[in-house]
Amino acid sequence: MSRLTGKIAIVTGAGSGLGKAISESFAEQGAQVVLTDIDLVAAKNVAGAIGASAIALHQDAADEQRWDVIMQETRDAFGTPHILVNNAGLVIPGTIEDCSLDQFRKQNSVMLEGVFLGCRAAVKAMKSNDQPSSIINLSSMAALQGYSPFVAYAAAKGGVRSMTKSVALHCKEQNYPIRCNSLHPAGIDTPMVRQESVGASGAATPETGMIPLGGLGHPNDVAALCVYLASDESRFMTAGEYPVDNGALYKPA
Ligand SMILES: NC(=O)c1ccc[n+]([C@@H]2O[C@H](COP(=O)([O-])OP(=O)(O)OC[C@H]3O[C@@H](n4cnc5c(N)ncnc54)[C@H](O)[C@@H]3O)[C@@H](O)[C@H]2O)c1
Repeated sequence: MSRLTGKIAIVTGAGSGLGKAISESFAEQGAQVVLTDIDLVAAKNVAGAIGASAIALHQDAADEQRWDVIMQETRDAFGTPHILVNNAGLVIPGTIEDCSLDQFRKQNSVMLEGVFLGCRAAVKAMKSNDQPSSIINLSSMAALQGYSPFVAYAAAKGGVRSMTKSVALHCKEQNYPIRCNSLHPAGIDTPMVRQESVGASGAATPETGMIPLGGLGHPNDVAALCVYLASDESRFMTAGEYPVDNGALYKPA
């Protein structure tokens, strides 16, 4: 038996980068996976390559009503979910001096409100599950040390970090079978990091702080931890925060 046999997972932002790798790893470990993305074509490509254990749905993670539809369509396709990975994201660059309020709100609507909506929908759906359930929120090293070029991004990720603990503690107090943890990657080789770290010349721009010593990580470095946190192997772990950064938090580039 594989590590996620019998589990049903939703992964947001699953058409690219980490979400793609996480979805593929979940399916490899026996889960049925609902891949959502604002880019439906990308999500469909990933789901199609996985096969019958995956479907793709269009979702803007910041759209409140859409979350109810995603939960219902997941139930219709596979059953009540046991796993949610709040992964969808984008980066809007800007320091405290040049980030507009509109940019700050846009960043936070997807990266903080979207995670809030996902956690709320998942707790509602999963609280009566008879199998252990797991919510995994993609935060960032930015939540732990700040990122001056990305003030709105760092604020959103900081919110995700503390909200994760609040969700986890609520579920524990209510005796719900739901754990909730946050991941804090840095410098994993995805389109988002390439876009922010590599200039037009193809050269790395370390001033963004996104390329740590030792080079970039692989999306599977994050996916492997997601498999563990999604599985019952991590049954005693909740409200935790887990860097995946090759030590960059303590030894920045
Ligand atoms: N790659 C890293 O090193 C790193 C570091 C820290 C945190 N993260 C976080 O990991 C997550 C995944 O990032 P990635 O590096 O794979 O980026 P990526 O750009 O490769 O993938 C992000 C995905 O999210 C989707 N998306 C964007 N806006 C959306 C929305 N409103 N609703 C639904 N989907 C939306 C995109 O279409 C894309 O498929 C993000 O939350 C990011 O902040 C990544």
